[in-house]
Order: sequence, then C-alpha cells, then structure tokens
Amino acid sequence: MLVSARVFRYCLIIAIVAMLVSIISKRSVPFGGSILKSSTVKSIRSFSYTSSSSNGGEGGDYSSWSSHGSSKSYSTSSSSSSFTNPNAQSTSSPPVTTSTASLNYDSALTTFSNYSVAVAYQPKDRKPSSNMFKKSNRSPALDSPSGEDNLFVSSQVSDGSIAVGVADGVGGWSEAGYDSSAISRELCSNMRKGFESAGNASTTPKSVLDNAFKEVLQSEAVEIGGTTACLGVFTPDLKLRVANLGDSWCGLFREYRLVKETNFQTHNFNTPYQLAKIPQHILRKAAMEGRRYIIDEPKLADEYSWDLQKGDIVMFATDGVTDNVVPKDIEIFLKDHLEDKKDAKLNDVAKKFVSEVVKVSKDGNFPSAFAQELSRLTGQKYLGGKEDDITVVLVKVV
Ligand SMILES: *[C@@H]1O[C@H](CO)[C@@H](O)[C@H](O)[C@H]1NC(C)=O
Ligand SMILES: *[C@@H]1O[C@H](CO)[C@@H](O)[C@H](O)[C@H]1NC(C)=O
Repeated sequence: MLVSARVFRYCLIIAIVAMLVSIISKRSVPFGGSILKSSTVKSIRSFSYTSSSSNGGEGGDYSSWSSHGSSKSYSTSSSSSSFTNPNAQSTSSPPVTTSTASLNYDSALTTFSNYSVAVAYQPKDRKPSSNMFKKSNRSPALDSPSGEDNLFVSSQVSDGSIAVGVADGVGGWSEAGYDSSAISRELCSNMRKGFESAGNASTTPKSVLDNAFKEVLQSEAVEIGGTTACLGVFTPDLKLRVANLGDSWCGLFREYRLVKETNFQTHNFNTPYQLAKIPQHILRKAAMEGRRYIIDEPKLADEYSWDLQKGDIVMFATDGVTDNVVPKDIEIFLKDHLEDKKDAKLNDVAKKFVSEVVKVSKDGNFPSAFAQELSRLTGQKYLGGKEDDITVVLVKVV
C-alpha cells in the first residue's frame, strides 16, 4: 500500500514536470539570453533545457556551444559531454563566406495593385565573441544589416501576385567563425528570385521554399547553417497562402484584432524546426561523438490558407518580435498608429514598431512574452525582454 502510494505520487510529479516541459517547449522561447529577474533563480534551473554549456545532465541532452544564451540549439547530444567546435582540432580556419550582405527587397515601402508592403528590421548588438574557439576572422554576421535574420519582398508577377517572407538563421555557427547569416540571406534571395521567375497565383509558398532551399544546398555562398522560414503568397483576389517552418510567425489582423496566426514549430525547448546545411565531415564527426544536428525538410512546413479583406494587416515576424511582445501588444500598437490615420505611412509604422520592440527587448523590467510564459508556468515572477535580431514585413490590403 505504502509503496504504491509513493509510486503514484512519484508518477504524478513526473507527469506534471513533463507537462510543463512540453508546454514551455511549444512556446519555443529561449530564456538563456533574457534579462530575467526572479526572487529564486532555482526555478529556472529546473527546466534544464538551457543553452548554457555546463548543462548536459538530466533530460538536458541538448547542448550548445554558444556562450551567448540567445543562440538557438541546432544539435542534440546523446552524451553529456560538452559541445565542442567541429573544427577545434583542425589547423585550418573555417573559411568565412564573403558574400556581400545583400537585402532581398527593393524599398522600405512598396505599393502593389492590391497590397502595400513595408519592411523594418534591427539586428541585436553584437560584440566580438569571447569564445575560445573564435578565430581571428571577424564574423560576417556582424556586417549583416539584419543580423542572422533576413526577409524578402518579390516584385509583382504578371498575374498580380506577390510573395514575401522572413527567415531567422540559427546562431552559434558564428562562434566558430562561420557566417551564420548566409543561409537566411541566400534562402530569401532564392525565394524572391524563384517566385519572380516562375510564380503565379497558384504557386504554393511551400514549393517556393522547397526550390529555394534546394538551391541553398547547392550554393557555394552557404557553407553551413540552419534557418527558419515563414513566407506567404498574396494573390489579386485577396487570398493568402502561408508556409511556416520553425518559430518565425505570421499573423493576420482585421480591425486591429488578431484573427489568424501560424503555430510555432519546435522539437524541444530552444530548438526550432530548421532547414540546415551541414557539411558531411562535420556530420560524421558529430555522429562519432554521439551528437546529431537538427536537419528538417521544407515539406515539414505548416501551410495555411486565409481569405483577406481590404484593410487587413498581415505581419511576418521573426522570434525577436514574438519572444518580446504578445499579440495584444501588436493589436494596440497597430490601432494606435493606423486607426483614423490616413496619412500614416506603413514603412514608418513598421520602423516604429521595430524600434519599440527593440526598446522593450532591452528593458529588464518589461513583462515580455517569454517572461510572462515563464511566470505562468512556474508561479514565480519573471520580468525582462529578450534581445535578438528583430525583423518584420507588414502587408496591408489596399
Ligand atoms: C486588385 O487590383 C486590381 C488592379 O488595381 C483591381 O482591378 C482589382 O479589383 C483588385 N482586386 C480586388 C479584390 O480588389
Ligand atoms: C503557374 O505556375 C505553375 C508552375 O509554377 C505552372 O505549372 C502553371 O501552369 C502556372 N499557371 C498559370 C495560370 O500560369
């Protein structure tokens, strides 16, 4: 009797912990980089899927080499050995890709027949890494105007359709001297070019993503990396099709209310679904060490099909936005800046929005989306924003 009661209680505790872990996993909000405040730091440790390198134990079979907590995980480990630089024993420096930091849109505001499209972004502050493996090369991610994030806006194809999207490169590779901004930049460039050359109203965003990623795998401009992607095809009859892979986000606002949104896709805490390109020699080395990288396929992207109306606002955003502000915050912002403001320029609104998100991301007292979620799960009070690259594409149906 006594034993079974104890076993029952034990199972109950395990079930509760598993449930909490699964809830927090779905939110995909990395807390390593947050400026979180709490009376007890202990409760953070109990969810031990952190990206801190000292943490390989109990359930924490996720590791990251990054000293920057905000870098996302891109590998799993079946051993508790700490993650090491794949090139640590190599005498040659990893070749840094020197593709010019290009952006894949023509102007901050573009007006098409049925849509206005505005873009805005700000990379997080990057300091030269103190990582011991860091090579002397300056990481090209430092020079990317949108950090490891990227975005694209196509021109209008002959039937009047357009495609737009965002992508968030998985950090961490930059610690080893690789250009971790290359994969999202090239993917966005390929998505734009692919849609412009062969797209029409019946082109699915998933096929655009699929073709673009195939090119990334062939491209010399991307040596290594992982990225999320969230993109949409807008047609002249006001239909929007969205494909989302990972934890970037697309939301549809009608009358300043969120009416549709994409789901975050994560494997586990701090580990979003990601398209990845990893050279064979690095895969082999990882396999020998019992680690594996997350390598997802474009076919895993979720697809959505939404009907639009005049006046609707569609936002594409990287997790630098959604880790900080909640949909309610965005609703209020859009209402404040667009309602009854015929002269409001969408690019000014997008820019203001990004600067507001940047501000709260650096505010240790801001109840960020992430801090709120953590407070809810733990019953402890957490506060603080989450610094990250922040990128949005705003589309208004005109
Ligand atoms: C889209 O734009 C075209 C060209 O301006 C216009 O003829 C058409 O009516 C618009 N579509 C809708 C649904 O308003
Ligand atoms: C749209 O593009 C696809 C290929 O991407 C093509 O098969 C189809 O015929 C095109 N449809 C129209 C109406 O042009």
